[in-house]
Parts: sequence; C-alpha cells; structure tokens
Amino acid sequence: MKTIFITGASAGLGKSTAKLFQANGWKVIATMRTPEKEIELNQLENVTLLPLDVTNIAQINTTVQAAINMGNIDVVFNNAGYGLIGPLESYTEAEIRSQFETNFFGVIWVTQAFIPYFKEKRAGLFITTTSLCGLTSYPLSSIYNASKWALEGWSESMSYDLAQHHIGIKTVAPGGIKSNYMNVMEVAQDKSYDTLMQRLTEGFTDGTLMEFSEPETIADVVYRAATDEKDQVRYPAGNDAVRIYANRLEVGPEAQRIATTKYLNLQSPYSPSI
Ligand SMILES: NC(=O)c1ccc[n+]([C@@H]2O[C@H](COP(=O)([O-])OP(=O)(O)OC[C@H]3O[C@@H](n4cnc5c(N)ncnc54)[C@H](OP(=O)(O)O)[C@@H]3O)[C@@H](O)[C@H]2O)c1
Repeated sequence: MKTIFITGASAGLGKSTAKLFQANGWKVIATMRTPEKEIELNQLENVTLLPLDVTNIAQINTTVQAAINMGNIDVVFNNAGYGLIGPLESYTEAEIRSQFETNFFGVIWVTQAFIPYFKEKRAGLFITTTSLCGLTSYPLSSIYNASKWALEGWSESMSYDLAQHHIGIKTVAPGGIKSNYMNVMEVAQDKSYDTLMQRLTEGFTDGTLMEFSEPETIADVVYRAATDEKDQVRYPAGNDAVRIYANRLEVGPEAQRIATTKYLNLQSPYSPSI
C-alpha cells in the first residue's frame, strides 16, 4: 500500500486530496495545524492525523520523523498556503515575511526534512501546490505571486539535483479553487487601487482571468501527477490554468501581459502617453 504525506490537509485542496488518495487505497498521513479539530478525516480508514504548522521547524522535524517511523512514504504533498492580497506598500514587513514563511519556506523545510529518507531508499516524489499565479502574474497579489514563482523556479532547479537520487519533484498549479482560500486570505485595502481591484474582481467573476474549480478537480490532477510516472515538472490544474498557461506559451509573456493590461483597462507602463 502506497503512502502520501500531506500538509494543510484540514481544508480545501489538502482535504480533497487526502480523501481521493484514501479512496484509491493509499495510506494518508494528513497533517494540519489543529488535528484535534478535525472531524472528517479521522473517521477514515488508513488516514493518520499528525500536527504540523509548516512555519515551525522543530515541529516539522518531529512530525516528519514520526511519519517515517510509521513505515514507507512514497509521496510528499506540500500544499499548505494562503493568499496575501493588496498593493505592496500596504503590507507590513511582518505580513510579507509571513507569506514567505508559509508558502515558500514551509515547503523548503518539509522537503529538506524528507530528502535524506528518500535518498536512502532511492525513490520518492515531492509535489507542491503552486498556482497559476506562479506561472503568470496577477495584480494586487505581488508577494503571493512571488512566493509561487519562487516555488516554480525552485522545483525546476531541484528536479536536476533530485534526479541524481531517483527522486521526483512536480508542481500542481491550480487556477481558482472553490475553497476557504478566499475567506481566509489577508486583504490590505488602498482606495487608490479601487478601480483595478474592481476590474480584477470582474475578471474573476466572468471567468476571463480566473475560473474557480472544485477542489476535487484539482485533487484529480495531484493524483495524476503522483501516479503517471512521467518525467514532467509542471501540471497546470483546472480549465483556467490550462487555458491561460497555454496562451502564455503560445503568445509569449510580454504579449500576454499587454493583453491583460488592456483587459484591466490600464495604460501599459511602456506606453508613450505615460
Ligand atoms: N483557492 C485558490 O483559488 C487557490 C488557487 C491557486 C493555488 N492555491 C493554493 O492551494 C493551496 C491550498 O489552498 P486551498 O485553496 O485549499 O485553501 P484553504 O481551504 O484555505 O486551505 C489552506 C490549507 O493550508 C493550511 N495552512 C495555512 N497556513 C498553514 C501553516 N502555517 N501550516 C500548516 N498549514 C497551513 C490551512 O490550515 P488551517 O486550517 O490550519 O488554516 C488549510 O489546511 C495553497 O497553497 C494555495 O496557495 C489556491
């Protein structure tokens, strides 16, 4: 029986992925900040809950060791994350650092803790939830975008290193997901960006800039990435991510950015009229 270790399994994509793998006969180590509050996953056979806040390095080491002591681990799914929304100047230093502590460094420390174990068995796969915001960029979420772009670049670089030890690394880059994300994201307000925020919201509502998939749809892509045995790093997930990333590859990043700027009804920064 194969085993997957998941971070951020209390809700949304992490929870859907835990349920999907369990239903497909996998053992699941579902980690979350407050396992004592979980009332669904703890009812499922072959699912073990362990405590994990990915910003707590001591807890990462304890929990990863406890997971390894439970038996074979095949896949580590780095999924925990949240969104920081607003213009750069509205964030505090603490907010910016926190975004990277969770979204980027959390992945780094969990991965680092598992590498010696995977090296020794010359097998294993890391999958990280990035975002369409890690393959292209969206307004008013620059630090979130930076954290997800960092993960994409890091994963591609790691793929060369880990291949030396027969270890795989992949990213699942969802577009919008219907989850708690929108409720828990931290939004900084600044009236000088109201028009942009309004247009962005319209683009999310009419599906131009983002559609919102069920978490189960994205979990299917995680399952495919875990089982297809392909030497492939990036898995855009959801209609929007597949469509918008394909457009980026087709027209190139500058043409896509200019088209998005026009859609948002802003002047391009390179326009002679500015
Ligand atoms: N929703 C979207 O539109 C969207 C789009 C693209 C990518 N993503 C990415 O998808 C991933 C999952 O998000 P979701 O949409 O499923 O949102 P969600 O329902 O809010 O779930 C986020 C999960 O991350 C956990 N988490 C947050 N900070 C953590 C920390 N420090 N340590 C451990 N766990 C932590 C949350 O745990 P608690 O319950 O303890 O808070 C929760 O389990 C994230 O990486 C997110 O950036 C989301």
